[in-house]
Amino acid sequence: MSESYLKMKGISKHFFGTYVLKNVDLKVGEGEVLALMGANGAGKSTLMNILGGVLEPNEGSITIGGASRTFRSVSDSEKAGIGFIHQELALCPTMTVAENMFINRFPVKGGVIDRRVIREQAKTVLDTLGCKIDVLEIVRNLSAGDKQLVEIARALLTNAKILIFDEPTSSLALEEKSRFFDIIRALQKEQKVIIYITHFLDEIFSICDQVQVLRNGETSGDGILKDYNHHDIVSMMVGDLDIRKEKKISKAADKVLKVDQLSRTGVLDSISFELHRGEILGLWGLMGSGRTEVLRAISGLDPIDAGHISVNFNGSMQKVHPKRVKKWAGMVTENRREDGLFLPLSVASNISSANLMTLLSKNRFTVQKQKEEQAARNQVEALNIKISNLDQTAGTLSGGNQQKVILARWLSKAPPIFFMDEPTRGVDVGAKNEIHNIIKNLSGRGFSLLVVSSEIEEMMELCHRYLVIHSGRIVKELPGEAAKKDLMIWASGAGSEAGSEAGSEAPGNVNLGTEGEAEREK
Ligand SMILES: Nc1ncnc2c1ncn2[C@@H]1O[C@H](COP(=O)(O)OP(=O)(O)OP(=O)(O)O)[C@@H](O)[C@H]1O
Ligand SMILES: [Mg+2]
Repeated sequence: MSESYLKMKGISKHFFGTYVLKNVDLKVGEGEVLALMGANGAGKSTLMNILGGVLEPNEGSITIGGASRTFRSVSDSEKAGIGFIHQELALCPTMTVAENMFINRFPVKGGVIDRRVIREQAKTVLDTLGCKIDVLEIVRNLSAGDKQLVEIARALLTNAKILIFDEPTSSLALEEKSRFFDIIRALQKEQKVIIYITHFLDEIFSICDQVQVLRNGETSGDGILKDYNHHDIVSMMVGDLDIRKEKKISKAADKVLKVDQLSRTGVLDSISFELHRGEILGLWGLMGSGRTEVLRAISGLDPIDAGHISVNFNGSMQKVHPKRVKKWAGMVTENRREDGLFLPLSVASNISSANLMTLLSKNRFTVQKQKEEQAARNQVEALNIKISNLDQTAGTLSGGNQQKVILARWLSKAPPIFFMDEPTRGVDVGAKNEIHNIIKNLSGRGFSLLVVSSEIEEMMELCHRYLVIHSGRIVKELPGEAAKKDLMIWASGAGSEAGSEAGSEAPGNVNLGTEGEAEREK
């Protein structure tokens, strides 16, 4: 085979003396898709940031198409034909979809930005992705999945030869995923050079041909993917994994949260349900179904037009304003950058931020530093968060470790109810297993959890019961043992036509928590 089009050689990088990449080589040829794997904090994004001109290496060289290259900036890297779809989306929330796709390179006609060209080209690229987002929509209003598609479209627009995808599918819905894989295959046929980072092992086996695994900043294995199986890759990533499956815990009877006829015009329609003590209740639906909006509405993040929420207060259910629900509930958000983490603050401050009242010193004006650090250290150890020290700022942690910090924050506060939106987004297989066990353990200790995840396997692993959401309504309640097929059918909106039993129930009529609860509760 001919020389690899892209070669990185002997790359090392340290931050303040701590090496995060040590003498790493990487090569990918034209028309190849390389899976770059590794546990959270292994160095994948750092290596790609070096290729993308975001970071400069301390040592090492890059050769592209036979020519040696040095990148001092992102634009140097772009000029060399590199397109980078980042793990943390880098869009400007207040600009339109089309504007975001042309940031830094607006076409100009007669001294002014040619908006028509922007609109048309943006639409053409989105069309090739099979994506129906309005190019004039403000990015802030898009779902996480749509934002991801805009990022992908933006990289495709630059006509890059080398494409880096850093966890591109972590927030894509199932059908968006398969469309995205088709796009990767098409790009491969066009002889693009593709580097693909993901924690989903199934994905790499369906679209990648080469693999390279990083472990603690060094290459622990590489080669042709089909020479390896799942287990080999996992062992290269994290050593031998002890997957401990804990049984689902049966649901207890008493209510902790009751949602009645919650509506928000055009978004949510008469959402009613109850959450029980020790229960893991899944809100299952496709991306855009309204599943995240339910969580946001009941936690006071979005306004509501009608309905009310009650929580269990010393044994009796009392109505509370959604804005006050946070006294009882912790919200682990899907978007860790926008509404989860305080990026410039330390890991310790981020972990303690939900729990400051218990850490105040006697004068009630200052936080007891030692207590704060001890509490944070306990969580860092329990969740195996990879940091150099507790003062490291959250913004410099790897993606998966940021997710763990958000979780740590709420675990240290331990409110009776947890709302979790994509709790394992971006975490590696080992950590995912740890987080699943933590969730089950919380449930076993009587905490109640309302969980949203795009991964059906994750929902099936965790939930005692599901509420299926479609077009902003609860269309079906299913038991924890429900078959995958039923979950898929109801989520797709085809539930009412599928099978006579399912068909007899009109969507939206699952009104838990008002009448008929005596039969349901044993
Ligand atoms: N600017 C920085 N300052 C200090 N440490 C950093 C900085 N950027 C990255 N690191 C550290 O480098 C290590 C590798 O991080 P990187 O983001 O490359 O991991 P990753 O393999 O992409 O992990 P994930 O799967 O969680 O995204 C981490 O321990 C991270 O905290
Ligand atoms: Mg990363």
